[in-house]
Parts: sequence; structure tokens; C-alpha cells
Amino acid sequence: MRHLIVPEDMSAAEVEAVFAISRDLEQKFVAGRRDALLPGRVLALVFEKPSLRTRVSFEAAMTHLGGSSLFLGADSGFASSRESVADFGRVLSEYVDVIVCRSKSHDTIVQLADVAEVPVINGLSDYSHPCQALADLYTLRQHVGRVTGLTMAFVGDGNNVARSLAVLCGLLGMRFVLAAPQAYQFDAAFRAHLAKILPQADIAETTDPVAAVTGAAAVYTDVWASMGQEGERQQRLQAFAPYQVNSALMAHCPDAVFMHCLPARRGEEVTDEVIDGPASVVLAQAANRMHVQKGLIAWLLGHA
Ligand code: CP
Ligand code: NVA
Repeated sequence: MRHLIVPEDMSAAEVEAVFAISRDLEQKFVAGRRDALLPGRVLALVFEKPSLRTRVSFEAAMTHLGGSSLFLGADSGFASSRESVADFGRVLSEYVDVIVCRSKSHDTIVQLADVAEVPVINGLSDYSHPCQALADLYTLRQHVGRVTGLTMAFVGDGNNVARSLAVLCGLLGMRFVLAAPQAYQFDAAFRAHLAKILPQADIAETTDPVAAVTGAAAVYTDVWASMGQEGERQQRLQAFAPYQVNSALMAHCPDAVFMHCLPARRGEEVTDEVIDGPASVVLAQAANRMHVQKGLIAWLLGHA
């Protein structure tokens, strides 16, 4: 059973295969075609945290492909005292063809995938956000033309989105540099993991945002306090203040595109001027979530 729990669950060739299906389905969608590749197939979204993009892009994708989806929020009792994650996963597998899970804890998604008889896709955990990274690299291909040999500068928290991007950039030959205060850079376990799975990858870290963005083809940021970190907000606002992506920082990389997974805290990690400016591709990133997830579902369900 194939799952997508972290981006490194896929090889570079598999990512390219998903992108190829996504491109084909995107072109058909733009031309007004919604081919029913997956009639009668059902996707379940099991979510423990809020979502706009992930939820709606998966639901719309499934409808466009002729299947259907159902959203299971807190009242489903997932990851609660009502029943074990294993029982939940085994039962859900009897009804649906694919599961997307957004969980507070990465381990919960791993547990679900361990028992599921259908593919499980990580729709964001505290550790990883693989669907976001796939859509982002797909977006870069569209807007910059290539990713191999170019640099993505991630200015902000070394959290789920940054980890996923580091891995996917490494897989596709893009240089990745994280600019963050020391305490918010990758931890030793993740660095060791990267060295093991992607020994050739060019992944760097610095505390200097200007050094990171100089020469970069893309500048990426994410919120300073992620879902579940609200209690650390004040401390993080202080620590990340020198890392705001604003016009002064973007002036060091005049040809770079600006990227953000959204939702954004405007005036914190990014200014209005940058996120609404000509370099911003944030809307394309959000739109591509749907196209790439169509490709991913079709690939996982063997409808390539
Ligand atoms: N980028 C992203 O995953 O957005 P949502 O949290 O709205 O799904
Ligand atoms: N790092 C953010 C990403 C939201 C899409 C969070 O986990 O809240």
C-alpha cells in the first residue's frame, strides 16, 4: 500500500510522474474538461485542525474527477478517547478508497497509515506538509521554468512546511537555504535524517536572511507561530522580527518570486507590499494544490 506521509516517501521519478498527470489534468480543467477518472471513488478527509486550502482543494479535486469526498471533523471521534486510531483506520478503510489526514501529531498519521488498507495522504502534521511542497515545486516549474540548480531561500520557521520543502528541493536538485534564528532552525535529528536520505542535496542553514536570499530564485516564508504553537506567539514574534520578508529584503533578489503556503499573518512574516506585489505567486501555489492533488490521487489509485 502506497501512502504519502512525508515527501521522501516518493522518488524523484515518482514526483515527476505525479506532476505529469497533474499537468495533463490542469490543462483539461483550464479547457473546461472535467474527465471522470475516478467514478464512484470516495475520499475521506479526517481533520483535527482548521483548513481552507487543503480541505477544499481535495474536495473539489475529487468532485472534478467524478468521485466524492466526506469531511470528518471532531465529531467523528478521531484520535480521541472514543476509539483507538487503529480501529478508526481499519473501519474507515472498509468504506473509502483514500484518506487525507490532518493531525495534531505526526505519529497519529503514521499510526493511521500503519493499519489503513487504502492510501493515506498527510494533509499536514506538526512535522510535515508534503502536499504543500509538491504544489510549490510544481508552481516554481510553471513560473520560473525549472527548479534544478536554482535556490529556494526559506526565511522563517524551520517547521513542517520548511522540512517538506527542504526534502523535495533536495530530491529535485534545487538548493535550499533556511534563514532562521538558531533556535528555530532544523533539529539535529532532522539534519541527520537529511544527510542519510539525501547525501548529495545542497541544504544549508543560516541566521542571516540577506545572505540566504541573495541569488535565490524563490523566497518562501510561513507563519512564525503555527497551529498548535499559539502559546509561544509573543516569544516567536520577538525572535523572528528581523526575518520579515519585506521590500528591503526582496531588493537583494530582484528576480526572485515570493512564495507562501498561506494562511499568512500580514505585517508579521510578510508585508502587504510583498505578498500583493508583482513577484508574489501565492495564488498560483494555492490553485496548484488542487491540480497536483488530482495528479497525486490518480497516481495513488493507479489511474495514471
Ligand atoms: N496551505 C494550507 O495547507 O492551507 P490550509 O491550512 O488552509 O489547508
Ligand atoms: N506551518 C503552518 C502551515 C499552515 C498551512 C501551520 O502548521 O500552521
